[in-house]
This record gives sequence, structure tokens and C-alpha cells, in this order.
Amino acid sequence: MDIDFQALPTPCYVVDERLLEKNLQVLAGVQERTGCKILLALKSFSMYSLFPLVAKYLHGITASSLFEARLGAEEMGKEVHIYSPAYIEEDFEDILKYSDHIVFNSFDQWNHFKARVQRVKGRRIQCGIRINPEYSEIKVPIYDPCYAHSRLGTTLSHFRPEELDGIDGLHFHTMCEQGADTLARTVKVVDEKFGPYIAKMKWLNMGGGHHITRPDYDLDALVEAILFMKNKYHIDIYLEPGEAVALNTGYLVAQVLDIMDNGMPIAILDASAACHMPDVLEMPYRPNIIGAGQPGEYPYTCRLGGATCLAGDIIGDYSFPQPLKKGDRLIFCDMAHYTMVKNNTFNGLNLPSIAAFNEKDGLRVMKKFGYEDFKSRL
Ligand SMILES: Cc1ncc(COP(=O)(O)O)c(C=O)c1O
Repeated sequence: MDIDFQALPTPCYVVDERLLEKNLQVLAGVQERTGCKILLALKSFSMYSLFPLVAKYLHGITASSLFEARLGAEEMGKEVHIYSPAYIEEDFEDILKYSDHIVFNSFDQWNHFKARVQRVKGRRIQCGIRINPEYSEIKVPIYDPCYAHSRLGTTLSHFRPEELDGIDGLHFHTMCEQGADTLARTVKVVDEKFGPYIAKMKWLNMGGGHHITRPDYDLDALVEAILFMKNKYHIDIYLEPGEAVALNTGYLVAQVLDIMDNGMPIAILDASAACHMPDVLEMPYRPNIIGAGQPGEYPYTCRLGGATCLAGDIIGDYSFPQPLKKGDRLIFCDMAHYTMVKNNTFNGLNLPSIAAFNEKDGLRVMKKFGYEDFKSRL
């Protein structure tokens, strides 16, 4: 590992641009093979200092709110797509200003905003409806947009073909960290249920949740699923992955503040699961640490927790070749996506700094946070 983690302040996220570029090249390969357009979902990764690199390969961004749309427009300046379960009235004029595609969650939302979209002068904003095909293979309910009574998207029984005038595309998002086999089965259901409407569209957006840059991902099956829809209906296909763009490209560097014992050694870190890697508790998942293993794999097993009051602010139990000591640095892996976009200052903990590494410029700390960032939100 040629990144000098010792040179960074802690806690600190650091993104390796070489790894990000590798992911982007895989995604660019899918675009080349299929003619589809891939957008970065900003909800996953919004480190805008790296948008110029992302922009070299992808067509633009997809936003979940006015702020994300504006960030994408101002900092990347390529296509801006937006979807929200419901748009905020006061935001909508600015959403019109920044967006090229607006996807509505329901026909009521579409009818409510339709006239305002169509009044925009000088360019035509494309509009879409998010459909809920009522088919997903996600086991964790909070990540499943198709669970019973889900608010995300319009089901077939609520679809109103007579209100499609002005709608250019359909959008579905039903996956989470899944392979192309899941996409193929989903596409089949979408086609069976919504095929007659897709036939009238210019595009179909297949959402995110495609784990395209995972080493075992079946790219050929993805290409097949995309080409099936593209060729059957002569439409453009969009994908809007977040995680796949930044997968395995970043780290969170933390420092051991103290070690105590309560039936087992427990290390308290300056990085917190609750504040700095909330998906560790929410998903939940266990991040890898460079040089550490599962409990018992190395001689010294230790529980790692954050310096907050939350009893459950535990990252996990890990084993190490030697006992940890104060001041040791731990490098958590795969920390670029869904971390800096979700972190918080609970307990007044400072936010981690943000750094990037590339071969030409070396290691740069792009952002440092302090008391004013904490105070200004309250
Ligand atoms: C509508 C939509 N598009 C794209 C994404 C990005 O998903 P992922 O980061 O899993 O690829 C999400 C994630 O929740 C989403 O809700």
C-alpha cells in the first residue's frame, strides 16, 4: 500500500483515485458495449472534488433533492436527473433550473407539477414516472423498495395510461448490492407488467443497486439485460448506480484513543460507527480492516467502539497479530460510499477530514471540519 496513512489527520476518509478510475472504466465498458448511459447516484458518493474524474467516464448524476441536483449541475455540469418520492413546493423552481430529467413518484405528483415543467422556456425537461414492479430480491426490508405498502413508485394497479401524455420515460429501482441475474429476473417482470407502456417511452431508467464493479459481477449478463430492453423497445437505457461507482475505493483512517477491559479487550477509537459509518449499524455490515481478521484468526481479539455515549456504537470484534495500543492507526476498507454523505456530529464528535490520493498529486487533505461545522447546523 503506497498511501502514507500515517501522514493523515484522524479520523479521515481517503479516496484512492486510481481505484475510482478503475471502477469508472468498468462502467464505461458497459456504456460502450450497450450504448446505455450511466449516472452517478449522488446519495452514495458526493465528493465533488473528484467529479472531474467521474465526468470523464459517466454521463452525469442523479439527485434525490434540490441540493444534490444543484451540486451535480454546478460541480459536474453534465446531465442532471432527479427523483424524489414527493417534491417540495418551494424547491421546484430551482429543481427546474438544474434538472434535465425529473422523475415523479406518482401520477398525482406528475399532474401537480406538469404545467410548471412544460412552461420552462428554451429547453425541454424530460419527465418520467417511477414504477413499482412489486418484484425484488432484497432480504433487508428497509432497503427493499417493493415491500408491502411501499411508498416508492407506482404499482400497476395505480398506473394511469391515460395520463402519460408528456411522460418520456419510466424508472424502476428495486435492487441493492445485487448481481445481473437479479436484474435479468426483474427486467422480465417489468416487461411483463409494463411492456405496453415502455413501448411508448423514449427511455427506461433501471435505477441503482447494480454491484457492477464487484470482481465476480457478471458483466455479460448485464449487457444482455440492457440490450434486451433497448432492442425490444428501441429506447435509451439509463443506469444510476451509486455504490458501484465508489465500491472499494476508499478508507477511513482511525486512531485508538484508549483500551479497556470488560471481559474482553475493548478499544475506543476516534472514529464512530454511529457518526462516521452509520451503515455499519443500519445495514448492518462489518468493514474489513487492513491487517486484521475475524475474532480468533490472529492471537489478539479486541472489540472496537466509538467515543460516543451510544452503547451500541460498536464497529465489531476483530483480531490482530499484536495487542492494540493507544495511538495505533486502523484502516477501515470500502469507506467511500454511503459514509461522508450520511455522517453526523452526534455527541458533538467532529466529522472526519476528507482526503484523496492520486499518483501525480500524491495525498491531499481536501476538507477539514471543526466547531463551526457542528454549531452551524444547530
Ligand atoms: C432511486 C435510486 N437510484 C439509485 C440509487 C443508488 O443505489 P446504489 O448506491 O445501491 O447503486 C438508489 C439508492 O437507494 C435509489 O434509491
